[in-house]
Amino acid sequence: MTNDTQKPKANSLWGGRFEGGVSDIMEKINASIDFDKLLYRQDIQGSIEHCRMLAATGIISNKDAEIIQSGLKKIEGEIEAGEFEFSSALEDIHMNIEARLTEIIGSTAGRLHTARSRNDQVATDFKLWVRQACDQTDEALKALQLALVKKAEENADVIIPGFTHLQSAQPVTFGHHMLAYFEMFTRDRGRFKDVRKRLNECPLGAAALAGTSFPIDRNQTSDALGFDRPTANSMDTVSDRDFALEFMSAAAISAIHVSRLAEEMITWSCAQFKFIEMSDSFTTGSSIMPQKRNPDAAELCRGKSGRIIGSLNSLLITMKGLPLTFSKDMQEDKEATFDVVETYSLIIAAMTGMVLDMTINVKEMKHATETGFITATDLADWVVRVLGLPFRNAHHITGSIVALAEKKGCDLNGLSLEEMQSVEPKITNDVFNVLSVENSVSSRVSYGGTAPLKVLEQVENAKERIECK
Ligand code: ARG
Repeated sequence: MTNDTQKPKANSLWGGRFEGGVSDIMEKINASIDFDKLLYRQDIQGSIEHCRMLAATGIISNKDAEIIQSGLKKIEGEIEAGEFEFSSALEDIHMNIEARLTEIIGSTAGRLHTARSRNDQVATDFKLWVRQACDQTDEALKALQLALVKKAEENADVIIPGFTHLQSAQPVTFGHHMLAYFEMFTRDRGRFKDVRKRLNECPLGAAALAGTSFPIDRNQTSDALGFDRPTANSMDTVSDRDFALEFMSAAAISAIHVSRLAEEMITWSCAQFKFIEMSDSFTTGSSIMPQKRNPDAAELCRGKSGRIIGSLNSLLITMKGLPLTFSKDMQEDKEATFDVVETYSLIIAAMTGMVLDMTINVKEMKHATETGFITATDLADWVVRVLGLPFRNAHHITGSIVALAEKKGCDLNGLSLEEMQSVEPKITNDVFNVLSVENSVSSRVSYGGTAPLKVLEQVENAKERIECK
């Protein structure tokens, strides 16, 4: 909402050397209030702590500090009640709040901006906002991990084909497949944790770019706002948007994980696979084809990951040519970041719901392992283990047996012992023990392997890791 009727001739916050007002086009290109109003809470919080510090260091009087703080709290109430009138003539959230403060408490409001600039102010607000997004993201990812672990535990011994190159490779368990995604989201949580840790230095006091001549206490504001320490270099402080880039990078990587799972669910749910069925809550029908159940939510998870990657790219490109210190280009940081946070949290929530809701078609999964000579590696391993041949020879023998089965139009255990022996005479009946998919998965007990017992161990381990901070 903008308020053009009160457009000042020259901006009253810096109008000293300006005679005329800006053009409408300038106002439009310059204003960020339509989106940066999202930062109002952080802006007020930062201003209150800055004000307290100014009073504690004797830069302003305690009385003025109290008046300023009560004005700021009143403004917060107005914004929360939807009663605040945002003006694009006042450009951004910082100046909208300061102008309103002046209306409420008069010229005392002007003392708040002592030893501060919008450059350190916006860096502070934005960091506080991204920090909170990191915390919310961690909670959302935890919920997704819990959903994956639940499915893994319920389906620890359900057998599906494992693919490489989307060709049947070796049988695996569905629980193992779910836990593969658990690992990805664990790394994602670690990345967001790193983002939070690295961003947690307080910009306040860097002022415009060079610091300030006032005797400020940067440790006070830093502590009060929950930062680990003040930033070390005032020029870097107002030029730095690494924290937004890092957040978006972590979100982009994580969105890729969501997208890959979405892609698998789309495939698994189609009539040719029928491995899973997705619930009514996350699918749609077709207006013309009555049989359809379209996996729209999964498709949108896949689609929106592209948008997240695009936002990351847009800010990388914006930042790459900027000289130190602040340039107005940097105002482009917010829409990209805000959109990433909103889009990313939506796809995580949708994926959590889809994972919890999907039903597993055990029969179809198993059925799909009955073609594609999926236990050929087990046969080759048997030749190595029992006949003592080098793996490369065993591979060759197995390849010939597969060719034989292909010719006959059956799977490996559809061949007779004689047929096997026509390729390698030393093969015995014992070989058939390793050709079942059940045997195949339960034999893979190496650490991190797909055996149901191992999956259940990994489930317990995963449950513990979800909680560790
Ligand atoms: N709206 C600006 C932003 O989003 C705030 C900083 C403006 N600083 C300045 N010197 N013009 O980055």
